[in-house]
Formats: sequence, structure tokens, C-alpha cells
Amino acid sequence: MGKQVILVASAMIFCVAIAPVYGQYYSETVMARPRVEKMTRLHFFFHDILSGTNPAAVPIARPNITDAGLYLSLIAMDDPLTVGPERTSTRIGNAQGLYVWTCKDPTLFGAVLYTDFAFTSGRFNGSSFSLFSRYPIAEIATAGEKIIELAIVGGRGAFRMARGFALTRATYVNAMNGDASLEFNVTLYHY
Ligand SMILES: *[C@@H]1O[C@H](CO)[C@@H](O)[C@H](O)[C@H]1NC(C)=O
Ligand SMILES: *[C@@H]1O[C@H](CO)[C@@H](O)[C@H](O)[C@H]1NC(C)=O
Ligand SMILES: *[C@@H]1O[C@H](CO)[C@@H](O)[C@H](O)[C@H]1NC(C)=O
Repeated sequence: MGKQVILVASAMIFCVAIAPVYGQYYSETVMARPRVEKMTRLHFFFHDILSGTNPAAVPIARPNITDAGLYLSLIAMDDPLTVGPERTSTRIGNAQGLYVWTCKDPTLFGAVLYTDFAFTSGRFNGSSFSLFSRYPIAEIATAGEKIIELAIVGGRGAFRMARGFALTRATYVNAMNGDASLEFNVTLYHY
């Protein structure tokens, strides 16, 4: 009975909360005013943590072919961004999104990232940029070696309409459990 009352009450709140919307198709095209583009550079570290009892990245789907391991798996992440290379370093944001491990050939092993990098402190608190790029994991199997370029395709807040790129290098790789830390140098062009 008590539960029903709560249900009805919340249903009523829900109904009351619906604002009237009058549908009307609207369209307008004008010349955009020329705007001065800004460039912002960011430097931080990203930690993809699959291990432990409280991982930040978790496989959420995988094919049902045997022996696939994590190849072709889809991973959901909410990974920390920090000022320094250590995981315990000051947190400045988080990278939320997905990546899919895309290649069955271990020598060409890679991922495609679909990720929103958001900042939770400082000048860019509340702003984020969107990264959509392939990531050739096999090429960075050893920490400290190759620099990988990733494409940035958009942003929010201070980074509205951003385009740019990130240069990344692995500073820590644990091939046993999949954990990795990456240094990011980001260059963003935005208004
Ligand atoms: C994969 O799923 C299909 C459809 O459910 C099933 O027929 C097949 O036996 C599964 N294969 C494996 C290796 O589990
Ligand atoms: C970041 O912005 C949020 C939302 O406006 C605010 O609650 C929070 O205190 C800010 N954090 C810092 C470190 O400025
Ligand atoms: C990032 O930039 C710093 C300063 O220029 C440089 O020392 C570092 O090697 C760069 N790292 C990457 C991954 O580009």
C-alpha cells in the first residue's frame, strides 16, 4: 500500500513536470560571423585500469567465438585523468566512453576509442573534448616507446566546436592485466 502511494505520487510529479511543447518546424540559415580561433594545449595523464576489485574499465560485450580472449570486445570506461604520471596524482578529470578491441591478429592488435574527456577542475572545469580515433595498441606494447596520434572531433563548453589532435605515449603498460597509463599532449583549435 505504502509503495503504491509512492508510485502514484512519483507518477503525478512526473506528469506535472512535463512542460507543454508545441511542435513547429523551424529553420533558418544565415552567414556565420567570422570568429577568431583559439588554440589550447593540454598536458595530462590518462589511466586505463582494468585490474582490481574496482576497475575503471570493464568489458561489457564480447563475441562468443572461443579463444577470442578480449579481441573484438567492447570495453566501457570511466578512467581518471591526472596531473602527474602516477595514478595517485591529483585528479583533474575523467575519460568516459567506449573502446573496442578490433583486430584478431595480435601483431596488428588495436582499438578504436569513442571517448569524452571531461575536466572537473581549473579553467576548463565542466568542459570536455570528444576523441574518436583508432589506437594501434600493438605499437605501444612497451612503455615509453612510440608516440601515437589520435583525432579530436568536437567538444563542449570552452571547447565547443573543437578540433584537434592528441599525441600520446604509454608511460606504464601491464600486459598481464591490461592496465596502462598514457601521457597526453593535446592541441585543440576552438572558439
Ligand atoms: C554462439 O551463439 C550462437 C547463437 O546463440 C550459438 O549457436 C553458438 O553455439 C555459440 N557459439 C559458441 C562458441 O558458444
Ligand atoms: C567544477 O564545477 C562544478 C560544477 O559547476 C563545481 O561544483 C565544482 O566545485 C567545480 N570544481 C572545482 C575544483 O572548481
Ligand atoms: C609532451 O610534451 C612535452 C613538452 O613538450 C614533452 O616533453 C613530451 O615528450 C611530450 N609527450 C608526448 C607524448 O608527446
